[in-house]
Amino acid sequence: MKLTLALIGTSLLFSGAAMASADLAKAKNCLTCHAPDKKIVGPSYKDITAKRAGEKGAEAALAAKIKNGSKNEWGQVPMPPNNVTDGEAATLAKWVLTHK
Ligand code: HEC
Repeated sequence: MKLTLALIGTSLLFSGAAMASADLAKAKNCLTCHAPDKKIVGPSYKDITAKRAGEKGAEAALAAKIKNGSKNEWGQVPMPPNNVTDGEAATLAKWVLTHK
């Protein structure tokens, strides 16, 4: 029972945060190259979640890549560094991994 309430609380908090993060992704031009469920220039957020969600430290690793760029993980096209703070990168990494 306690657990159920905790879960409901968390998911309520989470949906608010998810919305703010979607706005952040838009503001930071992530959506120019990424869509939730199809490849554009970069992989879809669903594909990223499918590949990364089970990995230890995935959130921190993705946050670093969001900030500094990424290459040779998904194909020939690299992701350039993005103009985000560490905090924004962490928020976006967490948000990307909510795409199931
Ligand atoms: C210019 C296009 C472009 C922009 C803008 C862009 N990305 Fe990417 N992104 C890519 C490409 C291409 C890859 C695949 C890189 C690779 O193969 O390592 C990628 C990979 C990723 C990955 C997966 C890395 C991995 O190792 O699995 C994440 C997470 C990600 N991007 C998030 C973001 C976020 C959040 C933003 C906005 C701050 C963003 N991207 C902006 C093109 C872009």
